[in-house]
Amino acid sequence: MASNAIEVSRLVKKFGSFTAVNGISFKVREGEIFGLLGPNGAGKTTTISMIATILSHTSGSIELYGVDVLRAKDAARQLIGIVFQDPSLDDELTAWENLDFHARLYSVKENKRKIISDVLELVGLGDKADKQVKTFSGGMKRRLEIARGFIHKPRVLFLDEPTLGLDPQTRRNIWEYIRKLNREHRLTIILTTHYLEEADMLCDRIAIIDHGRIIRTGTPEALKTSLGGDVVRIGTDKKKKLYRLLKGRSFVKSIKESHDGLEISTEDGSRVIPVIAKVADSNNIRIDYTTMKRPSLEDVFISLTGRDIREEGADSDAQWRHFGGRK
Ligand SMILES: Nc1ncnc2c1ncn2[C@@H]1O[C@H](COP(=O)(O)OP(=O)(O)OP(=O)(O)O)[C@@H](O)[C@H]1O
Ligand SMILES: [Mg+2]
Repeated sequence: MASNAIEVSRLVKKFGSFTAVNGISFKVREGEIFGLLGPNGAGKTTTISMIATILSHTSGSIELYGVDVLRAKDAARQLIGIVFQDPSLDDELTAWENLDFHARLYSVKENKRKIISDVLELVGLGDKADKQVKTFSGGMKRRLEIARGFIHKPRVLFLDEPTLGLDPQTRRNIWEYIRKLNREHRLTIILTTHYLEEADMLCDRIAIIDHGRIIRTGTPEALKTSLGGDVVRIGTDKKKKLYRLLKGRSFVKSIKESHDGLEISTEDGSRVIPVIAKVADSNNIRIDYTTMKRPSLEDVFISLTGRDIREEGADSDAQWRHFGGRK
């Protein structure tokens, strides 16, 4: 059985009278990619900053490979690599110089040159060693920061919003490097994200965090399965009328308006769609399209919190199965 790399118990952080992290507990197994998924201000950065020893805690305990992080900070730091949410490279220096500076900070002396060239290779920047960072794209900078976080061979790497603000293709490219680090070096990775797709694709397990609390933990699959049933989308220009007609019916687990119709969570979509069509027909409501899909992590988040997580750019339409429309 894999041992635990991290054990966090009843962790609390208060800023004055405001509680940013409100009693968080979770365990991460060695070699796992563990995601903290939550909206802006949920407490993700505050949580990992405490684990990574860069922020003091109010109460609770943190163990990293058996080391009490709050007592033995220096020992814990050697086990940890961190990539901050806000970029922290020196633009005027070259990629090599940035890594060399970090290697000195962590007293990496033996094989330093080889280690630096290996990690640059690892993130696909082997031929960019002598280029100034200010000439790099956003994705290249992010890859260099990931390489830097790994240079002293930590056992746990913290990635705070590793793909924030990057385009979808660059984001996928970064995921590949994160996976590679995880697989080839059996590196335990904790990442924070508010991209549902990122958590779904990359993480072995996810903790959904909101208002400083973990509201559910599980594998992406288990979280989606826990919701059960299907999500049915109906396109119509009379969504308010149809909403009133459907809300409260026994087959409707939840219903909400979308930009061009309704989204209904239900046990068995294929049986419910004809019923909805009938209701619409007898009330002179035209249906433009009907689709259904298995629940996504987004649906899980909505059902747990009652609201959308803010998600930029990600297009979830690909998951929808078309059922043909009635015109
Ligand atoms: N130094 C601080 N002083 C006071 N409040 C703070 C401080 N740092 C964070 N907070 C507050 O704590 C809460 C959690 O912040 P945190 O940065 O952990 O959120 P987050 O989940 O990382 O959000 P984001 O997705 O925007 O990065 C927020 O309400 C934030 O305003
Ligand atoms: Mg943050």
